[in-house]
Amino acid sequence: MSLRKTAVADLTEKQAASELKVLATEIALHDAAYHRDDAPTITDAAYDALRKRNDAIEARFPKLKRADSPSKAVGAAPATGFKKVQHTVPMLSLGNAFSDEDVADFMDRIRRFLDLDAEEQIEMIAEPKIDGLSFSARYENGQLVVAATRGDGSEGEDITANIRTIKAVPDFLMGDVPKLIEIRGEVYMTKADFAALNAAQEAKGGKIFANPRNAAAGSLRQLDPKITAERPLKAFTYAYGEVKGMEWKTQWDFLQSLKAWGFPINPRTKVCKTLDAMLKEYRKLGEDRAGLPYDIDGIVYKVNRVDLQKRLGFVSRAPRWATAYKYSAEQAETVVENIEVQVGRTGTLTPVARLKPVNVGGVVVSNATLHNEDEIARKDIRIGDSVIIQRAGDVIPQVVESLTAKRPKDSKPYKFPTKCPACGSHAIREEGEVARRCTGGLMCPAQSVERLKHFVSRNAFDIEGFGEKNIEAFFEDDLIESPADLFTLEKRGGRPKLKGREGWAEKSIDNLFAAIERRRTISLERFIYALGIRQVGQATARLLAHAYGSFDAWRKAMLAAKDKDSDAWTELNAIEQIGESMADDLVGFFAERHNRDILDSLAKEITIEDFVAPDTSGSAIAGKTVVFTGNLESMSRGEAKAGAQALGAKVAGSVSKKTDLVVAGPGAGSKLKEAEALGVKVVTEEEYLKLIGA
Ligand code: IVH
Repeated sequence: MSLRKTAVADLTEKQAASELKVLATEIALHDAAYHRDDAPTITDAAYDALRKRNDAIEARFPKLKRADSPSKAVGAAPATGFKKVQHTVPMLSLGNAFSDEDVADFMDRIRRFLDLDAEEQIEMIAEPKIDGLSFSARYENGQLVVAATRGDGSEGEDITANIRTIKAVPDFLMGDVPKLIEIRGEVYMTKADFAALNAAQEAKGGKIFANPRNAAAGSLRQLDPKITAERPLKAFTYAYGEVKGMEWKTQWDFLQSLKAWGFPINPRTKVCKTLDAMLKEYRKLGEDRAGLPYDIDGIVYKVNRVDLQKRLGFVSRAPRWATAYKYSAEQAETVVENIEVQVGRTGTLTPVARLKPVNVGGVVVSNATLHNEDEIARKDIRIGDSVIIQRAGDVIPQVVESLTAKRPKDSKPYKFPTKCPACGSHAIREEGEVARRCTGGLMCPAQSVERLKHFVSRNAFDIEGFGEKNIEAFFEDDLIESPADLFTLEKRGGRPKLKGREGWAEKSIDNLFAAIERRRTISLERFIYALGIRQVGQATARLLAHAYGSFDAWRKAMLAAKDKDSDAWTELNAIEQIGESMADDLVGFFAERHNRDILDSLAKEITIEDFVAPDTSGSAIAGKTVVFTGNLESMSRGEAKAGAQALGAKVAGSVSKKTDLVVAGPGAGSKLKEAEALGVKVVTEEEYLKLIGA
C-alpha cells in the first residue's frame, strides 16, 4: 500500500515491477467483479485511478509492461453458461479525460496525429455516456441474427434470446438497410424502473441490485430469457462494428440511419465545432445529470468525420478519435452517528453507517454501505468520525474516507462483532472469505424464513401445498418458528388458528395436515439436505447418508469430528468429494448448541430412515456417466439426478469423452453439440424414461 503513495517518477525499476504485478491482479479482480459478476467493490473513480497509475508506470518503464497488463485487456473474460461469440471487429473501450486540460490534450493529440495546425477546428460529436451494459447486435439483410455482450472485447456472451425481448432493439430494420451491420449500444434501466424493480425484488426476497447499471447487467445476462423479458430494459445505440454495403461520411449521419432503422439514439447528442463548445456541453449536461431519467457517468466526444476516424485508428484498447470525459462522483461531508450490522437472509453480516443526514447532489443521504469488516479496518472508519461520502453509480452511497484530523480524542477503532446481532450465535469468517457469517442457521430470525422454505422444498421435506408464501405468512403470525414446529402445529391448536385465515377452508386444512403427516418419515439423505447446512447440497447429502447409514451414526461422527486429530475427522475428509471447507461447515453446524437442539426436537417428531444402498443390478445405467441438459418435462433436475444416482449412475455437469449418455430436453444447447461432436449417445427424456423402465 505504501508504494502507491510514491510518485511514479520516484519509483525504482524494482518497485515499479512489483507494483505492476499487484496492479494487474487487483484490476483483473475488479474487472471480474464489475463485468462478470455485476457487483463492483470499488467506485468507478477509484478504479480509474488504479488504471491511470498502471498506465503511468508503464509509460515510464515500457519494457516492464506485463503479458497480463490491464492496459491490454478490456473488461473481463465472459462468464460461463452462455455460448461465446467472437466479435469480428473488437468492441473497444474509451480513453478517459478527467479535466478540461485532458480534453484539450486529447484534441491536440488528434491535431498532431492528423498533422493539422493548432488553430484548425475539428468537428466533434458529444454524446451522453450511458452507464449501462454494452452490446453488439448483428443484422443480416436487416434481420437480427446474433447479439452479444462485450465480454473481454474480442469474445462476448451470446445474449441473442435476451436481446430479442428488448423493444428498443428491433428484430427487423426498417427502410434502406446494409447487407450486414453490427449495431452497438448500451442496454440500461431508468432510475425509476430500477427503484421499482428493487422494491419488487425485496418484496419477494429476490436479489437487490446496487445501482441501475448492475440491475441492467444482471437482467440482461440471465440464462433464462423469460426473466429478461420481465425486466424493464431500454437501449441507446451509438456505434457500429462490422459493416458491408453501406458507408457514412459522419457519425452524425450514422446516428440518423440508426434512427431511421428504428433504434433509439440519445436526444442529448450534440455537434460541437470548438473545444469551448465541447466543454460547455459537458457542463450543461452535468447540470442536468441528476434530472435525467437514466444514469450517465460522462460525456463521450467522437470525431464526427468517418474518414478522419479511419486515419486516426486505435491505440491498444481505445480509439484515438474518441474519449470519455467523466463526471466525478458527487461528494459531501457528514458524521458517522453509528455503525450497524445487518444480517442478510443467508446469514451474511453487512455493516452500514448511519449518517447525519446530508444532501449529496440533490438526494438526502442518511445511510452508507461499509461493505465488510476489512473495508472498515482499511479505511479506519469509526463511530463519531467526520467522513466524506459519495454516491457511486449515483445510488448506494459509500464512505470515501475518514477525516482523521477531526476525529474525537477518545475515539476507538471499530470492533466488528463476532456474534450475530440478530440471534447471538457465533459469526465466523472462513479463510479466503470477506464476509462474516452467522452460524445460527435455523434459529436465527434473520435467516429462519429462508431456511424454513428450504426445509419444506421439493427436494427436501417436499410438503405438498406448503409453498413459500405460506411459510412467510405462518412465520409472521408466529405459527412456526423452527422446523419441528411444522410437526407440532396441529397439536398446538393449528386447526382453529388456520380456520379463520383467508384461503384456508376445512378441506385445505385437512390436506395440509395430511401432507405433513405423510412426511413424518423421511429418508436420511433428504433429511440432511433439508437442514440447509452451508455447501451441503443434494449430492453431498447423499454421500453423507451413504457413508454413515443412519442419523445416529452421522450425528455421533459429526460431533466427534470436532477434534481434528480424531478418526471421525479423517473419515469425513476421506469421503469422495468432501473437502476440508465442507467438512468444516458440517462440524461447525454440529458444534452450535442451538443446531443440536433443533435436531433433537425434530428427532422427537419424525422418523429418519436409515440409508439403504439401492439395488442397481438390472439397471440399464448402473456405472454409467449421465449428463442432463435442456428442459426436462416430467421431473426437476434434482429429481432426475437423484433418480439416476439411485440406479447406480454417476451424474456429471458437463459432457466429456467419459460421458456415456446425454439426456437432452428442449432448449439443449452447447452440451448437446458437444455430445454430438464427441459421438456420445443422446436420448430424449421419453427415451430415457423407457430405458430406465420408469
Ligand atoms: S463509443 C469505439 N459511445 O462506455 C467506441 N460508448 O468506457 C466505443 N458507452 O464500452 C464506445 N455511452 O459501453 C460509446 N455514447 C457512447 C457511450 C459509450 C456509453 C460505454 C460503452 C463503452 C464504454 C467505454
